[in-house]
Amino acid sequence: MRRKAELHLHIEGTLEPELVVELARRNRIELPTFDVEAIRARYDFANLQSFLDVYYANMAVLRSEQDFHDLAAAYLRRAHDQGVRHAEIFFDPQAHLSRGIPLDVVFTGLSAALKDSPMPSALIMCFLRDRGAEEAEQVLRAALPYREHFIGVGLDSAEVGYPPSLFRRVFEMAAAEGLHRVAHAGEEGGPDYVWEALDILRAERIDHGIRAMEDPALVARLREERIPLTVCPLSNVRLRAVPTLRDHILPAMLDEGLLVTVNSDDPAYFGGYVEDNFVALRDELGMSEDQLDTLAQNSFKAAFSLG
Ligand code: HPA
Ligand code: ZN
Repeated sequence: MRRKAELHLHIEGTLEPELVVELARRNRIELPTFDVEAIRARYDFANLQSFLDVYYANMAVLRSEQDFHDLAAAYLRRAHDQGVRHAEIFFDPQAHLSRGIPLDVVFTGLSAALKDSPMPSALIMCFLRDRGAEEAEQVLRAALPYREHFIGVGLDSAEVGYPPSLFRRVFEMAAAEGLHRVAHAGEEGGPDYVWEALDILRAERIDHGIRAMEDPALVARLREERIPLTVCPLSNVRLRAVPTLRDHILPAMLDEGLLVTVNSDDPAYFGGYVEDNFVALRDELGMSEDQLDTLAQNSFKAAFSLG
């Protein structure tokens, strides 16, 4: 199995149905069903928003430091088993704050798990773009006492209608704090969102970015500046950004000389962890061992130093 870095992974997207049920029992939370197969059967998504609805609903079971610890510890173990040797992990504090879970609970629980990680790992705090820029600025200010717990900021959730340009100021604040900057762009949104993430947010990596391929000038920019793209093939199929894996544009991105990487995004929902993505690229898309080696090597080139 190849060694790789995972750079696009939402920790809340690793909440497996088994853990949903276990945490619901622990926290005495009612669920529509306690049958893990019935929960999994609902993971049939028409687009990004239909996934996000389920993703946010399931988070109701995450309440205590121990819950956040157990979630991250389970991911780190599983990722290590899949050859991950460096992990940069997204989390969505606003999705917890809005349910009354303090920032301290989230940071303390996740950080405790990362401290015992089997490989180097770090947190990237994401802003939910559909909650607007003002709330993003509030959460960044509230997170500054935990500055040593995270290495960067990201931008996720519903993309279309919430362009990167709305978040210029909060990304400037983050840069002034010495935080790394990444942004989801070009998953459902067009190349213009990728341009804005680069020019306005000064994003150092683009998460997804598959629609950048529609704009040759943008492809040239990404290639010349060696901007990494964290592509998530199984996610793109499950959220219907591409019809089937055989239609995925990833091989063309490699042919263009882009610094593309493979990642699992929300593996509990999309049918596989990162090695499962590599296997699917080989078996369903027919990618060669050389191409897969390049993708794995790219992931370390695209990683932020955790030193
Ligand atoms: N896109 C946008 N927001 C997200 C995703 C995604 O794939 N996963 C979790 N939040
Ligand atoms: Zn994502």
